[in-house]
Amino acid sequence: MLPSHLAIIMDGNGRWANRLGRPRWMGHARGARTVRDVVEHCARLGIPNLSLYAFSSDNWKRPREEVGFLFELFASHLDTQIDTLVRHSIRLSMFGRRDRLPATLVAAMEAAEARTAGGTRLHLRVAIDYSSRAAIEQAFTQAPQDPSAVHALLPAVDLLVRTGGERRLSDFLLWECAYAELAFLDVAFPDLTTDHLDAVFADYGRRDRRFGAVPTPVAETA
Ligand code: IPE
Ligand code: IPE
Ligand code: MG
Repeated sequence: MLPSHLAIIMDGNGRWANRLGRPRWMGHARGARTVRDVVEHCARLGIPNLSLYAFSSDNWKRPREEVGFLFELFASHLDTQIDTLVRHSIRLSMFGRRDRLPATLVAAMEAAEARTAGGTRLHLRVAIDYSSRAAIEQAFTQAPQDPSAVHALLPAVDLLVRTGGERRLSDFLLWECAYAELAFLDVAFPDLTTDHLDAVFADYGRRDRRFGAVPTPVAETA
């Protein structure tokens, strides 16, 4: 029993680096390698939808150098991974605001979305300059003219994983996580392995998702 929509809050990069006496950007760089492994693993397992939180609208509060490093990392990662995504039939899309991002990054994102548009194996969604409250507000502002705007919010999340030890959502997919199973891992994102993920999936498979109904009966007692 695997989730059909897995969402991951990729947290703990900065503290991972600090623990090693390294600058925070090294944690982000190492985290990018973990992204590659996670995507590959999900594609191999047949999980159809994966949403990753890469940059929140509140992350603009960080030092300008760190923000700049992250955007360069996203652009270079897109550049190096695009062929692999196409080869593995992975469709990539970004969600969040685009109007405040560097034009070069937006161009790279759009090119990657266009090149991977035919991918059918896994839909990889990456949140950049994303705020769930802003997305919900926007959907409801549009709704009077366009009722489908609310449904244009992402599909329901089955399983939300957050690495890095914090137990909060930090404005990620609030609407979509209405009935999500939650898993909070103390491991920092750069240290996340496919074994950690498999353990989370095994635990997810044992959960009884009731959606408000009565528990699934073990055996009927008349
Ligand atoms: C998550 O790691 C990556 C981004 C928010 C871009 P952090 O950078 O938040 O790392 P910590 O939480 O400070 O360790
Ligand atoms: C959430 O992590 C954003 C991403 C992982 C991209 P933060 O590190 O920004 O969240 P807070 O500040 O701990 O809530
Ligand atoms: Mg953090």
